Amino acid sequence: MDKLLIEGGRRLAGEVAISGAKNAALPILCASLLSAEPLHLRNVPQLRDVATMLRLIEQMGVQVSREGTSEVVLDSRNLDNPLAPYDMVKTMRASILVLGPLLARHGEARVSLPGGCAIGARPVEQHIRGLQAMGAEIQVEHGYIHARIAGGRRRLQGTRIVTDMVTVTGTENLMMAAVLADGETTIENAAREPEVIDLADCLVSMGARISGAGSDRIRVYGVERLHGASHTVMADRIETGTYLCAAAATGGSVRLTHTSAAYLDVVVDKLLDAGCEIVAEREAIRLVAPRRLKAVSVRTSPYPAFPTDMQAQFMAVNCIAEGSAVIRETIFENRFMHAVELIRLGADIRIDASNAMVTGVEKLQGATVMATDLRASASLVIAGLVADGETLIDRIYHLDRGYERIEEKLGQLGAIVRRVR
Ligand code: EPU
Repeated sequence: MDKLLIEGGRRLAGEVAISGAKNAALPILCASLLSAEPLHLRNVPQLRDVATMLRLIEQMGVQVSREGTSEVVLDSRNLDNPLAPYDMVKTMRASILVLGPLLARHGEARVSLPGGCAIGARPVEQHIRGLQAMGAEIQVEHGYIHARIAGGRRRLQGTRIVTDMVTVTGTENLMMAAVLADGETTIENAAREPEVIDLADCLVSMGARISGAGSDRIRVYGVERLHGASHTVMADRIETGTYLCAAAATGGSVRLTHTSAAYLDVVVDKLLDAGCEIVAEREAIRLVAPRRLKAVSVRTSPYPAFPTDMQAQFMAVNCIAEGSAVIRETIFENRFMHAVELIRLGADIRIDASNAMVTGVEKLQGATVMATDLRASASLVIAGLVADGETLIDRIYHLDRGYERIEEKLGQLGAIVRRVR
C-alpha cells in the first residue's frame, strides 16, 4: 500500500494548475447513461474515483474512449446491464448516482445499497423516496436496491419532491431521473452546490429542460430523449481550497490557475480572517500568507455556507495558528477522525461531540500517521508540510480518490513529498 513521505518546513511558492472537480465529474459521467448518443467530456480529473465510475458504467455496456489525459467520450448506445454490483459500490458510495439515470433510460436498475463509511452512516432513503414519488417501484433486498418503473409504464412521472434534508447526490440523482420523466418535476430543498449547477449545465447541453439549478427549487420539464453533447467539467473548488490552506499554513505565496474564487466565498473570507492576502483573477487565484496565521472558527453547512469537505483542512491550519478556534461539523456525524492523527503530530485539539476546540501550537512534529478518508488525508498532508522533520502518511489510497497527482503538484510548489511504494 502506498504511503506519502513529507519533509516538512518548506514554504510553498509558485504556480500550479487545478484539476476538474471530482464531485462534478462523477455525476456527469453518470449523465452519459441517459442518452444513446456520445457525451464528450473535457477536464475530467484522473482520479481513482473517476476510474472506478468509468469501470462501473463500462460493465453496464457503455463504451469508454479516453482522449489524452483529461478527455473522455462515453457512448451508451449499447447499455444493456443496469447493475451496480456490491464490489464496486463498496469502494465508492457515489456509485449510487447511476440509480436515477438507469431507471429513467432503461426502466430498471439494480444497485447495491451503499454501506456506512468512515465519516458517517450516509443513508440514501431520500434518493429512494424521491424516485418512488416519480412512480418507481423499489425493493431493498439482499443488500440491493431493485428499482423499476411501476405499472408497465415506459417513463417516470413528473411530480413535486420535497427532500427532508439538503442532499447533494440525492438532488443530482433525482434531477437526472426527472429529465426523461413524463411532465414536470420540482425538487424542493434542493442542494445548491456548484456541482449541481455543472451537472444541470451538462444535461441542458444534452437537450434537458431544467431551471433553477443553484437554487433550492429545481424545475425539470421531462423530454422524450437526450442527444449527444460536449461539456467541460468545472474546476475543483475543494482542491483549490486545499492548496490555498496548504500555502497559508506554510507561510507561502502561490498562484492557482485553471480555477477561480467564484464558488469559494466563505473559504476565501476565512483565509482573509486568518491574515492571508488573496487576489481573485478571472481564471486564477493568488494567496500570500502572513508569517503566522490567526485561528479562525468554522461551522460546516450546505452551500453557500462553509463546506464540510474543507473542514479537516481548516483544522490543520488552526493547529499552528495563533489563538484558539472552534470547528463545528453539522453535516456528518463522524468527520473528526483526522483530529486524533493531528494530535499525534503535536496538535492541541479537544473534541466534544460535533465541536473541536483547536488551540494553535508553535510547531508540529513529524510522525507516522494514518489517513482515514479523503479530506482527512488532505489535512494530514497540510500538517506534514508544516511539521518539523518527516511525516509518513499511511493509506494514501484515500488521497488518490480525490487529488490528482498530489505529490507532483506539491513538488511544483517546492514541497519535498515522495510516494513510498
Ligand atoms: N443524508 C441522509 N439521507 C439521504 C441522503 C443524505 O440522511 O438520503 C444525510 C447524510 O448522511 C449527510 C447529509 O444528509 O448527513 C448530507 O449528505 P449528502 O447526501 O449531501 O452527501 P453526499 O451527496 O453523499 C456529497 C459529496 C461529499 C460531500 C457531501 C456534502 C459527492 C460525490 N460527494 O456527498 O464529498 O462531503 O456531498 O457536501 O458529491 C468528498 O468529496 O470527500 C465527499 C465526501
